[in-house]
Amino acid sequence: MSVVTTQETTNRQQNLIIKTAAGLSLQGRIRVPGDKSISHRALMLGAIASGETRIQGLLLGEDPRSTASCFQALGAEISELNTELVIVKGIGLGQLQEPVDVLNAGNSGTTLRLMLGILASHPGRFFTVTGDHSLRSRPMSRVVKPLQQMGAQIWGRKENSLAPLAIQGQTLQPIHYNSPIASAQVKSCILLAGLMTAGETTVTEPALSRDHSERMLQAFGAQLSVDPETHSVTVTGSAQLQGQSVIVPGDISSAAFWLVAAAIVPDSELIIENVGVNPTRTGILEALSMMNADVQLENQRLVAGEPVADLRVRSSQLKSCTIAGDLIPRLIDEIPILAVAAVFAQGTTVIRDAAELRVKESDRIAVMANQLQRMGAKVTELPDGLEIVGGTPLTGTDVDSHTDHRIAMSLAIAALNSAGTTTINRAEAAAISYPDFVPTLEQVCCST
Ligand code: S3P
Repeated sequence: MSVVTTQETTNRQQNLIIKTAAGLSLQGRIRVPGDKSISHRALMLGAIASGETRIQGLLLGEDPRSTASCFQALGAEISELNTELVIVKGIGLGQLQEPVDVLNAGNSGTTLRLMLGILASHPGRFFTVTGDHSLRSRPMSRVVKPLQQMGAQIWGRKENSLAPLAIQGQTLQPIHYNSPIASAQVKSCILLAGLMTAGETTVTEPALSRDHSERMLQAFGAQLSVDPETHSVTVTGSAQLQGQSVIVPGDISSAAFWLVAAAIVPDSELIIENVGVNPTRTGILEALSMMNADVQLENQRLVAGEPVADLRVRSSQLKSCTIAGDLIPRLIDEIPILAVAAVFAQGTTVIRDAAELRVKESDRIAVMANQLQRMGAKVTELPDGLEIVGGTPLTGTDVDSHTDHRIAMSLAIAALNSAGTTTINRAEAAAISYPDFVPTLEQVCCST
């Protein structure tokens, strides 16, 4: 009897069924798909640069596909998406064309928010942008407001805060924006608008968020300076960008599922090769270390400007910890899977300062709390996080992804250490960031 089966349901939905038995462990050497944040940025910068950008290791998830199709509609030539080599023929800064139809960012907040900075700074062209049901309910005012301060013209529902949005491109003015939230999407949106704006555009954030935009903009030749003391980045426009070769490392946010899976399922050992370990993303490794997880970094190296390592993880008895403050932006996408780790840890884990989770692809605080409760976990919702009393055994039952990719995968990992059978409804959401999640799960599950 295999541990993992899938069941197609109506409406292209898929249930993932996980049936555990004594003797299950996780073993093997695996790779995770390309980093989602870097994949988006490589496609976007490639499209607006002059010359050719060659991308190896692109994530083939639905989110980067949304980015590629938007920038194709804006006039960039992008070859068929594959992991070996994608070639983007850049159109040159300021040269994007007015598309004849609505640009659809699908489920991807990064596509929509970063693209807004680019579109708003294209004078004389008109754009309309939308997304799926989840994205149309996510706040856009965090990027619309600073762009308006730069002189952008953007309209949408609820005082221009919800997609669909309409944008009349303008010549913008530079600003110094003090962002109230540590958000790489906000920071990147303003920096991208600043590329096309004469003068110095600066973003200061309260804590450092992921810095992939800064690294890649510098590699593409933008004039950029970073002040690590004040978490400030300044771009000087108008710049020229030159196409580059980008090698996308494995996504630590996808590796996180296997780190926690091998940590909680007894007698497991996994090696996850070629994972990006950019310090603005490794909060998960720090949290797992506080929780007494056995994770080793091997073969550390620098690949195309991003630090990369192989991660070896062995199961261990986890203990509780507190996750809050400046650590939060460095593990924001890993909190659902950290909540699963906390359920199996001794003691009470507290996650605070993470109200941002309420406006991700789903309300990840509410959804993780109620789905884990369904399995028997002792989880309390806090306004800005979760309190999790670990050590209560879980029992398989029916749970639901709420169409959120990271919820689907986190619940699948929780199911591996639960008694009986768990059915994760709408598990097809995993394909947003990890199309091969289920085959990899099948590959690593060993029953004796
Ligand atoms: C991302 C930034 C993060 C993260 C998202 C990807 C990016 O969002 O949650 O999955 O690629 O810039 P925020 O910057 O809004 O926190």
